[in-house]
Amino acid sequence: MASYPKHINHERSPMACPVELADVDLFGVGAQEHWYEAYEILHREAPVLRLAGGGVTPGTDAFVLTKHADVARVVKDPERFPTLTQTRVGGWAAEGMSAEDTFTKFRSLMQASMVSLRPTQELYIRHRKELTDPWVGTGAMRHREMITKHANDLLDEWIDDGEVEFISRFARPLPQRVMATILGFPLADIPQLAEWGDAVVTPFVHGSGHKHEMAPEQMTQMLGRLEGFQDYIYEHVRAKRLDPQDDMVSFLCDVHYDALDRKLTDLEIAGIVHAMILGGLETTQYALEEQAQLLCERPGMFEQLRHDRSKVRAFTEEGMRMRSPTHGLSTRITSRDEEFQGVTVPAGSLLHLRFGAANVDADEFECPFDLDLDRVGVTRHVAFSTGPRVCPGANLSRVEQQIAWGVLLDRIDSIEYGEGNDWMHQPGIMLGTLRLHLRFTRSDSPMTLGTGRNISIA
Ligand code: HEM
Repeated sequence: MASYPKHINHERSPMACPVELADVDLFGVGAQEHWYEAYEILHREAPVLRLAGGGVTPGTDAFVLTKHADVARVVKDPERFPTLTQTRVGGWAAEGMSAEDTFTKFRSLMQASMVSLRPTQELYIRHRKELTDPWVGTGAMRHREMITKHANDLLDEWIDDGEVEFISRFARPLPQRVMATILGFPLADIPQLAEWGDAVVTPFVHGSGHKHEMAPEQMTQMLGRLEGFQDYIYEHVRAKRLDPQDDMVSFLCDVHYDALDRKLTDLEIAGIVHAMILGGLETTQYALEEQAQLLCERPGMFEQLRHDRSKVRAFTEEGMRMRSPTHGLSTRITSRDEEFQGVTVPAGSLLHLRFGAANVDADEFECPFDLDLDRVGVTRHVAFSTGPRVCPGANLSRVEQQIAWGVLLDRIDSIEYGEGNDWMHQPGIMLGTLRLHLRFTRSDSPMTLGTGRNISIA
């Protein structure tokens, strides 16, 4: 298989498939249907693509990095390549802006909590280690039983049907239920949480260009949809301060943040919850959805995995490598003049890190479009980025994906594409179809291996 399969989405895309460099547009309407063809051209002819005038400040440029070595080099060196947000937030903190002022000015809970909790790289590391790792990082394994239960509950709802729309009945609700449970929010609130979750990812779905820019009316609409989110979190914070439970919000209410030698404010807790909702829902949803497609495209692999669960980990990692959920982010700035692949990139340029392209770079991955269950160094991909700012929820997502497939493999004998797929992707920067109809055979002799015994995040 050369690259991404050409389903009918290819013809239906409003954008024509690129044939030469001049045709490549990674950000236009319909671009998602041709990303992998574009990467072939970029890797061959322009592995560092200049977007003239696309920088953060007028007169500066942006550069799209598509080589694995370049993306890895950048994300491993936060001093030389600081993140855009960190730079902004650090600046506000240095000016003495408080979390409350930041919220009043920018209406962003996440940035407000960053100003007070992690305005520097050092505090970023402490924040992560002390506040999020225990729940979604190093501590993610503690959720194995809970995730297994949610996966089985979801399957119970359609296991007798022989066909399923996989996204709405499994890939989307699973991370929603898992995240609600971790945070300590009632499952009955998921429809409302999902509405807020959709609103917080608006820039990544409906923003335009490599900077996910939103028109003022889009911004107003997004803020309108987020109405009530902050109060909802505050209500739970108040309740959990009085009656703590075994969940992340109760933990955040109580934890002593050693880095600043104090407890967290309600606004800071709300910022962390916002970050969890922003990062933890659609990403895992699309990982599962694309992995289901990879299985449909490889007859025999589902059966192989059923009988050799030691390969499930490699399958999910290869899935994320070949079909990265987050295809690219414009998150880093060059702090000095740099050179990538012989191209000079001046200080102050914006770097668009193209994780999806780096993960199919033939200089890093032999036969990049082969799903190789025996690939050496199978976690070398940068789907979660890498280095000190690697996705803080990577472990949780890994556990979710491995358990999801463990449970599906236990109870289903085979899957294939069902009727009605158009394989059209959602707009924006994520790789994910909007619908995925599957046909499947329920197993007459279910196994019980998907209970978390083979799970690995190391
Ligand atoms: C397949 C699933 C996921 C993928 C592909 C993914 C990918 C990424 C990537 C590429 C980044 C940028 C890292 C960088 O700038 O170097 C990131 C950041 C982030 N992710 Fe994930 N992620 C996933 C799941 C999750 C989950 C489950 C959570 C929460 C539990 C999460 C929370 C976050 C947060 C909060 C950030 C921002 C960190 C910061 O402020 O620098 N992600 N993720």
